[in-house]
Amino acid sequence: MDKIYIILAVLAGLILLCIIWCLIEPLVLDLDRISMKRASKDSSLKDLTVKKISEPTHDTSDSQPDLRVFLFSDLHIECCPITAKRLCNDIRKAHSSAPLDAVLFGGDIITYPSFAKAGYKYLSTVSSCCKELGIPFYGISGNHDWMLENIADSAGFTDLDNTSVVLTSHKNGSDITLAGLSDSGRRNRVWHSKLPSESTEPVVLLVHDPDAILHLEPEERPDYMLSGHLHGGQMKLPFKMEFTVLRRSDKLPRIGAVQGLYDINGTAVFISRGLGCNILPFRFLSLPEATVVEINL
Ligand SMILES: [Fe+2]
Repeated sequence: MDKIYIILAVLAGLILLCIIWCLIEPLVLDLDRISMKRASKDSSLKDLTVKKISEPTHDTSDSQPDLRVFLFSDLHIECCPITAKRLCNDIRKAHSSAPLDAVLFGGDIITYPSFAKAGYKYLSTVSSCCKELGIPFYGISGNHDWMLENIADSAGFTDLDNTSVVLTSHKNGSDITLAGLSDSGRRNRVWHSKLPSESTEPVVLLVHDPDAILHLEPEERPDYMLSGHLHGGQMKLPFKMEFTVLRRSDKLPRIGAVQGLYDINGTAVFISRGLGCNILPFRFLSLPEATVVEINL
């Protein structure tokens, strides 16, 4: 009998530790650096093949990349313990080690529209920091932002929803197109089949939901894609129930892409775990993330 009590006490202790960790983990920001390389695209394949690009994710050499950007996504301001001040400090730190070409926000300012003001205040602080450092700040909408209006003006970034800008390679001065796609929200979902640019230059696409690549016409798939939305599952559960039971509408996790770097039919794809928490203020084995992305043509 005593043994049963001991086992139950150990189990109760473990569950308590897990709950405490779920509350602590949203505070632990993982500032990562990754290197994306251009792969050879195969637009003849209709079905997408997903290959995980394993470690090392960053180029260990000191050679300069063509483009260096700072990506953060999925603020969900209601449950985001990573403060704007802390994020700005990380932007400053990244910029002081090597100049950043842009700061990119990957969408989902809020979970509930009534928190929009707080979300704009956060992003305006990031915008001021970018202005002070002389770094352009671009953003797109996420699926939770569909009810918000004039997002870019209120948040202080340059709107990349369904438009593009041209950036310049550090290495050889060639053009690189930075394009963005909007998110219509999930109720009346509209997917884009084309990119907003007809550029023949390499294209870096910023889009909130990585499932967007499933809907682009094969010849429209970009060379590089930066996304968020999946939160790394937010709470890792046994048998991947965070996707098989809870987030059933997300398709890419079912074919193997959840977080990190992938080669999807020759498109180099990075999926960020994002900063905040959606609905519940918990994370488990899916740290909040901001990333310095180095792009090599
Ligand atoms: Fe999100």
